Amino acid sequence: MLLSSVTWATEVKSPNGNIVLTFTVEKGRPTYTLSYKGREVVRPSHLGLELAKDKHASMGTDERDLMTDFSLDKEETSSFDETWQPVWGETKDIRNHYNEYVATLSQRWLSAPPAVAKGGPRLQPRQHRRTILIRFRVYDDGVGFRYEFPQQPDLNYFLIKEEHSEFAMAGDHKAWWLPGDYDTQEQETQESKLSEIRGRFQEAVNWGNSSVAVFSPTGVQTSLQMKSEDGLYINIHEAACLDYATMHLELVDAETKALTTKLDGNSNVYTPNPKRSPYPLPQPFTFVSHLTPDATGLKGCMQTPCKTPWRTVMVSDDARDMLSSNLILNLNEPCALDDTSWIHPTKYCGVWWEMIVGRGNWHYTNDFPSIQLDKIDWTKVKPNGTHKANNENVKRYIDFAAKNGLDQVLVEGWNVGWEDWANMWKRDVFDFVTPYPDFDIKMLNDYAHSKGVKLLMHHETSSSTQNYERHMEEAFNLMNKYGYDAVKTGYVGDIIPRGDHHYSQSMNNHYLHVVKEAAKHHIMVNAHEATRPTGICRTYPNLVGNESARGTEYEAFGGSRPDHTCILPFTRLQGGPMDYTPGIFVTKLSEWSNNPSWARITIAGSLALYLTMYSPLQMAADLPENYEKFDDAFQFIRDVACDWDDSRYLEAEPADYITVARKAKGTNNWFIGGKCDENGHKSTIKLDFLDKGKKYDCTIYADAKDAHYETNPQAYTITKKVVKAGDVLKLTEAPGGGFAVSLIAK
Ligand code: NOJ
Ligand code: CA
Repeated sequence: MLLSSVTWATEVKSPNGNIVLTFTVEKGRPTYTLSYKGREVVRPSHLGLELAKDKHASMGTDERDLMTDFSLDKEETSSFDETWQPVWGETKDIRNHYNEYVATLSQRWLSAPPAVAKGGPRLQPRQHRRTILIRFRVYDDGVGFRYEFPQQPDLNYFLIKEEHSEFAMAGDHKAWWLPGDYDTQEQETQESKLSEIRGRFQEAVNWGNSSVAVFSPTGVQTSLQMKSEDGLYINIHEAACLDYATMHLELVDAETKALTTKLDGNSNVYTPNPKRSPYPLPQPFTFVSHLTPDATGLKGCMQTPCKTPWRTVMVSDDARDMLSSNLILNLNEPCALDDTSWIHPTKYCGVWWEMIVGRGNWHYTNDFPSIQLDKIDWTKVKPNGTHKANNENVKRYIDFAAKNGLDQVLVEGWNVGWEDWANMWKRDVFDFVTPYPDFDIKMLNDYAHSKGVKLLMHHETSSSTQNYERHMEEAFNLMNKYGYDAVKTGYVGDIIPRGDHHYSQSMNNHYLHVVKEAAKHHIMVNAHEATRPTGICRTYPNLVGNESARGTEYEAFGGSRPDHTCILPFTRLQGGPMDYTPGIFVTKLSEWSNNPSWARITIAGSLALYLTMYSPLQMAADLPENYEKFDDAFQFIRDVACDWDDSRYLEAEPADYITVARKAKGTNNWFIGGKCDENGHKSTIKLDFLDKGKKYDCTIYADAKDAHYETNPQAYTITKKVVKAGDVLKLTEAPGGGFAVSLIAK
């Protein structure tokens, strides 16, 4: 079935035979290749890990890296085919079908006999033997591999200096990349050839973000989407990043063939990298893994038995397959929670956008140069009059949610501490339980519940993670007491403990700890600024959302390019849903605030995002009064589902357009969304997925003929008709626009 030994390597095919993986140990180094329909995807690439041999008491001076001197002891193959049901998702069923190959590798060496005192007994050299496994899963849409470390005398505790997993690309592909950064992903995506990354790097960094930690002028983040000149779509990411640092990719420079430089702090100076790898560098256009360090500079503190996350390479000649792939979810473990009945898709609005835009504040008073939480009697301080989480304003949002069938209302700025919350490296920044005097937590929750609405909790940690861990139990108890079942967390600014990074092993453990503790309290989590997701929402489905990219808030900070949302589904969304907070209708913010920024999207385009940016958690982010001006268009947000039995990607091209049709969970109703870049797009949609013989009430929300994201964003048309299976819809998307269609079974 699987193995047909060629002269130098073992070959493993995907179930349909399109993807072929080869593996061998070449001169002591584990090496793999990947092809798709006979075309090269990954050229011979080495695998291995470099250990911090001098940093740990249990590792002797005569240690070996897990890089060279391997021999292949054993090869095992198997097949797996199972269909599982996610708690929430894009489809009701997910097929997990792969062929597996496991290589057992060993290293053997003799350590020099320890020095002995003169005249003492002569000691023998010690024989070392170490075993690791590399496990590959070969799917029809890509490959995952990981390292596994069984418990053994010669590999018990170990420290990782760097993982050296290589991904040698077959050419100078086009790539959609973000600068590799240990702390943020809130940049605009760059579109360039691999060879142009170095030249474009400096301008790609979002130096304005409050925590920037770039490490190399050819370092990029995952998920990295590429396209080869002959039309192959290739995506590199990771799955199940648990108790391990987040991986970046560093490109070997095409000219110098070296990982040459290290970026010096936030300055614009590149200096030669003193910690250059001692191992021979691979061929040009090779990405090498680069893990996020912790405050000590280490990249992993391991105790066997243990394993790394899966490294994933997805490939297809059809861009739509990149979007419909379930490879990353499939590589994660099944759901770890016994009872998931309390987890539910959620549509929400919030006391949020007006503060992001600058028309109101999170903080309550302007009276103090700084705040010590335990020293202030909040009932006595002078309010600044701009605090938005006040009873009256929150009630207004609750009324709006109740009237429009939204499930929850997010309220930010409800708790004391916002006066000096950001970028102060302040440890005791919030207690997460004390409301400001004008936020009556009991009254507001009772009021919301009486109208069938819940409040959505907000815990901005300001990246003071130990402070959050200390208060978390009490904070979750408070949520249980008042009937909150979801929390938006946030990690703005540099991490405390100081020196640690947002994407390190220790921080990844923190985020997971929060998700697990929340589950005990039946609380869903939506974490902002946390590490990019790697599909662990399969195992912990109460992780209903993450930000971990440049979200809608940037429309208030200068704006994002119109193609931004046509890239994110190919990149950031591969690992799990994003709380993108779509739905901006009044895109010129100066129409209602002093903010000159504007959102580069039309109203019809904003509606499309509820389909194209899949998430079980969807916000209607604009102000109630802005939605009231366009109530006929808002009808789509009222109607659209956020949990699905089926999804069909109808058209897709990275950074150009995405069109998807989805069938709402437990119904016969379909919704279609199309979103395009600044060039506009014409879609021809064949409704062949509808049930034969049924009729559907079809409402089309489209850009008007003269709509344009810059000059005429609010021009839309709403057309109603009755359609049936096989009918065709022809739709035109304006520059920066899109469309949304609802199909309600009659
Ligand atoms: C950044 C988050 O992304 C944003 O949504 C939030 O309002 C602020 N932090 C404050 O917590
Ligand atoms: Ca953010």
